[in-house]
Amino acid sequence: MPSTVIVGAQWGDEGKGKVTDLLAEQAGVVVRFQGGNNAGHTIIQNGETYKFHLIPSGILYPGKACVIGNGVVIDPGVLISELDGLRRRGIDASSLRISANAHLIMPYHVLLDTAGEARLGKLQIGTTKRGIGPCYADKSARLGIRVQDLLDPKILRKKIMAAMEPKKQALRPFARDPRLDLHAMTEEYLRYGHRLEPHITDTVHLVWEALDAGEHVIFEGAQGTLLDLDHGTYPFVTSSNPVAGAACVGAGIGPADIDEVWGVAKAYSTRVGAGPFPTELDDDTGALIRERGGERGTTTGRDRRTGWLDLVALRYAVRLNRLTALAITKLDVLAGIDPLRVAVAYRSSEGATLDRFPYHQSILHGAAPIYEELPGFDEEIGDCRTVADLPAAARDFLDFIADGTGVPVRLIGVGPGRDQVIWSGARELRAA
Ligand code: GDP
Ligand code: IMO
Ligand code: MG
Repeated sequence: MPSTVIVGAQWGDEGKGKVTDLLAEQAGVVVRFQGGNNAGHTIIQNGETYKFHLIPSGILYPGKACVIGNGVVIDPGVLISELDGLRRRGIDASSLRISANAHLIMPYHVLLDTAGEARLGKLQIGTTKRGIGPCYADKSARLGIRVQDLLDPKILRKKIMAAMEPKKQALRPFARDPRLDLHAMTEEYLRYGHRLEPHITDTVHLVWEALDAGEHVIFEGAQGTLLDLDHGTYPFVTSSNPVAGAACVGAGIGPADIDEVWGVAKAYSTRVGAGPFPTELDDDTGALIRERGGERGTTTGRDRRTGWLDLVALRYAVRLNRLTALAITKLDVLAGIDPLRVAVAYRSSEGATLDRFPYHQSILHGAAPIYEELPGFDEEIGDCRTVADLPAAARDFLDFIADGTGVPVRLIGVGPGRDQVIWSGARELRAA
């Protein structure tokens, strides 16, 4: 029962979509297990760009079973647009399966997300305003609407009423918003249910059957470790758990079902939205990385904040997820930048050296990176296909990451295209 979890090892947008797509070639099933359409995963295939928000990044392989697990929050309108978009481009998505237990993002969640951010003013998190936080809050409060409720008009209406009622106060500014009309909302969601019905199933059993039949299952994470609700830079986090352990809950498997955990990290760091970012570069180098890396959000189009690679944060992600392999993406972006810097520790505002990622937010906010300098490389590396093709300085940079984390780098991204990768070591997942 081989299986691999793929997670973001930084603050999201590490290139999980591309890595999932590449590894999915060897898999029977690809499962999303958390997050929602706050995610934006890009795959470039034969010069065509695909951006997925909810549909797993295995869908471009015809017939591959792709699952939206119970841990995902689904905006059904967005999902249907994604399905329509694929159909227009000639991609068959009939193999998509949606958990009947996944929770639905409702119009009031989106409004509450926007209103919540406005209320926070300067303290805002910089959410994607997709209703993610309020939807997970309703799930915990046991007021959530689930995919299975779409198939029963009476239950759907009753549940929407029960869920909207306690939010009256917070929704008052939107009193006349037509999106909040109970009748219209119920009808709209029933239409979504009708459309999605052929895809809705018991995905937990589907995943078990695949594992028991010896098929390779890939669990595709969204967001990144440092955005984890429990382990990230709270409150500047998302409302789900992007760490590998969440694959168990969000897909319905046990920890012993997981064989490998791949962490995806860029050769530098980025972050979208507010919150601490110790290695952030507010200078020309940061702007150059943004420019060369096309660091603009896939979902919201916001500029991403950029900075040096942070090994303190990466080592934290390695241990939290128990990574067995690293995929280092966007190495090509660093060409021409000399010297390269990598944070190996932090200096606290009181002068102490910190080797560990601090749990205390005030300490993290005051932490300054301690850098190691490495020689840069001038050559463009987009055409390199083996480690030996890479300039010596690029190889040394990768060795520095592997040595500093204790995890082998098995995949190296040298450009956005599907073929712009270097497999270092075995390509087969089971031969780790
Ligand atoms: P995800 O959310 O983790 O799937 O990542 P995104 O798709 O949001 O952002 C990653 C961006 O980097 C996308 O535009 C990818 O096409 C691009 N990308 C992925 N790998 C590489 C790489 O190795 N080099 C370059 N230059 N771009 C890459
Ligand atoms: P992928 O899967 C980068 C960030 C938002 C914000 C915080 C909370 O493409 O890597 P939310 O809307 O989730 O309540 O916002 O989390 N965020 C992401 N940043 N990549 C993502 O997804 C993200 N999903 C959420 O910018 O700071
Ligand atoms: Mg993204």
